[in-house]
Amino acid sequence: MYADNLQNWNLVFNSTAELKKSLIENKTGKRQIQDKWICFLFYNEKLYAFEEMCPHQQKSLLGAQCINGDIVCPFHQYKFNLQTGCGHDLSLQTYPIKKESDRYYIQLF
Ligand code: FES
Repeated sequence: MYADNLQNWNLVFNSTAELKKSLIENKTGKRQIQDKWICFLFYNEKLYAFEEMCPHQQKSLLGAQCINGDIVCPFHQYKFNLQTGCGHDLSLQTYPIKKESDRYYIQLF
């Protein structure tokens, strides 16, 4: 049972060790959370989450990397700010991550 402050949050990784086994540093991996495919990126010891499909031409961001604070789409190299998802007058949906007791949670909208 989640504590009150974790209601509406979805468990993604049970520990940092599990996260590091599942994701290569600075390379996106994806997981299905509820009915959405989400890309996760572990970068500078922090976990980020955003929608899987690039807002440019709806291609997968799986395998994308972060360069200078921007996630770079592998298809046409459009850059989107890792924090806000903004770039090229487009918006990549980002999702909040919470870490509690070494567990990582995502909040979907
Ligand atoms: S599909 Fe991502 S930049 Fe074109």
